[in-house]
Amino acid sequence: MADLLLGQTLRFEGSPTLEGPGAARHSARGGVLIEDGRIAAVGEADDLRLAHPGARVTDYGDALISAGFIDAHAHYPQTAMIASWGKRLIDWLNSYTFPEEMRFSDPDYAAEIARTYFDLTISNGTTTVCSYCTIHPASVDAFFSEARQRGVRAYAGKTCMDRNAPEGLRDTARSAYDDSKRLRDRWHGTDRLSYVITPRFSPTSTEEQLEALGALWAESPGLLMQTHLSEQTDEVAWVRSLFPSLRDYLDTYERFGLLGSGGLYGHAIYLEPREHARLKEVDASLIHCPTSNTFIGSGLFDMDGMTRADYRVGLATDTGGGSSFSMLRTMAAAYEIAQLRHRALHPSELWWLATQGSARALHAEDRIGNLALGLEADIVVIDLASTPSIAQRSARASDIWEALFPTIMMGDDRATKAVWIGGKPV
Ligand code: GUN
Ligand code: ZN
Repeated sequence: MADLLLGQTLRFEGSPTLEGPGAARHSARGGVLIEDGRIAAVGEADDLRLAHPGARVTDYGDALISAGFIDAHAHYPQTAMIASWGKRLIDWLNSYTFPEEMRFSDPDYAAEIARTYFDLTISNGTTTVCSYCTIHPASVDAFFSEARQRGVRAYAGKTCMDRNAPEGLRDTARSAYDDSKRLRDRWHGTDRLSYVITPRFSPTSTEEQLEALGALWAESPGLLMQTHLSEQTDEVAWVRSLFPSLRDYLDTYERFGLLGSGGLYGHAIYLEPREHARLKEVDASLIHCPTSNTFIGSGLFDMDGMTRADYRVGLATDTGGGSSFSMLRTMAAAYEIAQLRHRALHPSELWWLATQGSARALHAEDRIGNLALGLEADIVVIDLASTPSIAQRSARASDIWEALFPTIMMGDDRATKAVWIGGKPV
């Protein structure tokens, strides 16, 4: 039976950065028809009711129906150590992250955290995540098993590290290749799951490992590859000292076959002109992780420059370097960082980044991230008056953007009125 969801609706027909807020389409009384897990129609509520009298109607009143949020870079194993105090990147990894990731040698612990992680992200309206796992193959099994059971479209890969990580948290060039390949064959393309080749970042991989993973990527058409790039100045200096003969940080990926379309580069704050040019040339995706960039003190991503140059830019929590599971909080941080660079991102741009922008970064914009005919029905319904502080402000709004912006800036999981995944209510 078809489902008809009624409420305010928000969808996009283009990028608001390139075309202005008019690229968004808002209806004050719209509807979304869902059939067989996909969006079968989007339009005005009255028209859809008349055209589909047999559909089961769920009326969300004046709540806002949107594509679900897409978190393009997260570390589900860092769920239980989010908000760890007082360190910058390298010390933060050594003090908090690695000891926690060590615990994932226990598959039961991995399963428990995967469950908690999906509970938290879905309750925040996130319907797709692209996550790192740990070096343990079972951490990938735990993540994908949980995702599969919930029917979500999800992306993940085994994090590969064969140096500069503690004993017990290192693989080898050979085992990273073999395990990644085995996990790819087990999971990629089953239900809604996609395997992602995942070297953590060049400081924790030898040249042999980077080369092996580059070879695997070359043998895996259609696979994404994710890693970190130029997040902190100390890290960039460390990479220079580890790879003295290479031109720059990006070159540590480029030389080993790890630069290309389908490459997802997290952070990308401190880029040289050559790196900019190459990333653009190959149509790589840059993933902005704003709460992480402020929380671990990394710096200010150049959203204005990147979106104007029409890079594929995704938005992400980077949980638990990022300090939130919420894509609303993440949009707010992206707004604040852009403000520090004298650019006010419009609410339509923020919403686009958290849905279409991230989908485009994952090369999945023809499947998810918008309310459009034929797309998979992953939907979030947002209460635009979820707390007293938001309600008193949105009550004054004269248009959808003024009504939405208080939720972007002050909203959390209380704003999630409903979530639909693959055409089914959660
Ligand atoms: N660089 C390498 N690993 C990590 C990580 O786990 N989080 C963040 N924010 N940066 C990284
Ligand atoms: Zn990260």
